[in-house]
Amino acid sequence: MSLLEVRDLKVTYPGGAAAVRGVDLAVAAGEKLGIAGESGCGKSTLALALLRLLPPGARVGGEILLDGEDVLAMKWGRLRAVRWAGASIVFQGAMHSLNAVHRVGDQIAEPIVLHRRATAAGARRRAGELLEQVGLPAARASAYPHELSGGQRQRVMIAMALACDPRLIVADEPTTALDVMIQAQILRLIEGLVGAQDVGLIMISHDLAVLADTCDRLAVMYAGRVVEEGPARQVYDDARHPYGRALSGAFPRIGDPASRFAPRGLPGDPPDPAAVPSGCAFHPRCPVALDLCATEDQLLRPAGPGRRAACVHVGADGTGTPGGNGAAAESEAPDEGAQSADGPDAHGEAAAATGSGARSADGGGVEPGVAAARTGTAAGTGAKGADGGEPAGNGAAVDGGPPGEGAESAGNGAAGMAGGAGASGAGAGRGAADDRAGGTGGATPARDHGVRSSAP
Ligand SMILES: Nc1ncnc2c1ncn2[C@@H]1O[C@H](COP(=O)(O)OP(=O)(O)OP(=O)(O)O)[C@@H](O)[C@H]1O
Ligand code: SF4
Ligand SMILES: [Mg+2]
Repeated sequence: MSLLEVRDLKVTYPGGAAAVRGVDLAVAAGEKLGIAGESGCGKSTLALALLRLLPPGARVGGEILLDGEDVLAMKWGRLRAVRWAGASIVFQGAMHSLNAVHRVGDQIAEPIVLHRRATAAGARRRAGELLEQVGLPAARASAYPHELSGGQRQRVMIAMALACDPRLIVADEPTTALDVMIQAQILRLIEGLVGAQDVGLIMISHDLAVLADTCDRLAVMYAGRVVEEGPARQVYDDARHPYGRALSGAFPRIGDPASRFAPRGLPGDPPDPAAVPSGCAFHPRCPVALDLCATEDQLLRPAGPGRRAACVHVGADGTGTPGGNGAAAESEAPDEGAQSADGPDAHGEAAAATGSGARSADGGGVEPGVAAARTGTAAGTGAKGADGGEPAGNGAAVDGGPPGEGAESAGNGAAGMAGGAGASGAGAGRGAADDRAGGTGGATPARDHGVRSSAP
């Protein structure tokens, strides 16, 4: 059984953006799956859905089986138990999410105290070990974030993601904003940790070349769907889907004069998820589209050993022979079996999402103690309060109580998932804000860029 199995996952945001339109994926323990695709194709939405971190109002359908248990069907209490130890997320730009006024060691120790019921001394010791694991001296635990370089801060975020020994790590653009040397170090670090601890890894990036280098398998997304999947190198070097080919062709190959003198790109823009083209969503940009592509949807089909691609030109033997359409149109109904994020659990999710700083819809009290203490730092780049409002503080909220208990969560962009009774973001929230962020209570954590996991 796979560690993670995603079946027919669909996510539609309020307003009708069908950001994920039926994704099937599997990740085994110790396996590294890369997810690539142009901006807006749904990569972060997929990542957020895995831990039910989507903003309220987002409709989610399908199944997300973590060790065989459906995350979408879990009761809130169970979900909190699974988060942190089950899976954790490192968001892009996570290094900006550390709480500026707390020592990094305390920030790493916090979820260990909360979710592993460790003593303060035990958690501090563990924080030191984690720092060493990510290549920093344990003594750096006493440093404040501003005393660390960007690469060091990103390592701290990874240490935080590892704090409760998750079985699955989702890394959403973990090296964006780092220079290439540090990027390479961080990637090697993540790779090493995954190999040594037999955890599963989902690595999200625009950069197909990085993913091909780091991951075992590669999934290419377009307009909310996986359109090609297979062994990473094969997909990169010899994509079967025209979009996969275009994406891979956009990266120059060292030593290949052809790619140097004839850089390839792809005209046009990715579609608006609220108005996805009929038929194969790629048809308006596809250089080899047939007439039927405008009307007939294409599902993933075998495209060679261990490979799948969603194109009419792909034959079962993996050749590029036009093979008829072969696939019945898939239902797009977003609400089929959908789960509203507004339900009772949704509040939990919302709060969780707030991790980096958005305001929970329920507003309210501030949980004293650690959560409050840690919260609110600057980080969450971005989220806006649902009410349209303020840039939310950031943070990762350290978990709070059961959903619905209200409160804003906040936190340091790392970790913690607020359960609902989180603490209020003290921080200034950078509010960089993404115009998409929003939703009450739950800023789009994607923009928050913290390490997020959830927590019991
Ligand atoms: N909270 C939201 N409300 C409405 N639409 C949203 C929300 N968050 C994302 N979207 C839309 O969903 C689509 C997918 O967004 P997502 O962030 O998942 O893309 P992405 O592939 O991660 O892009 P990038 O590479 O730029 O990070 C986009 O069109 C985006 O505008
Ligand atoms: S199905 Fe048609 S439009 Fe879609 S990628 Fe294949 S050829 Fe292009
Ligand atoms: Mg993203």
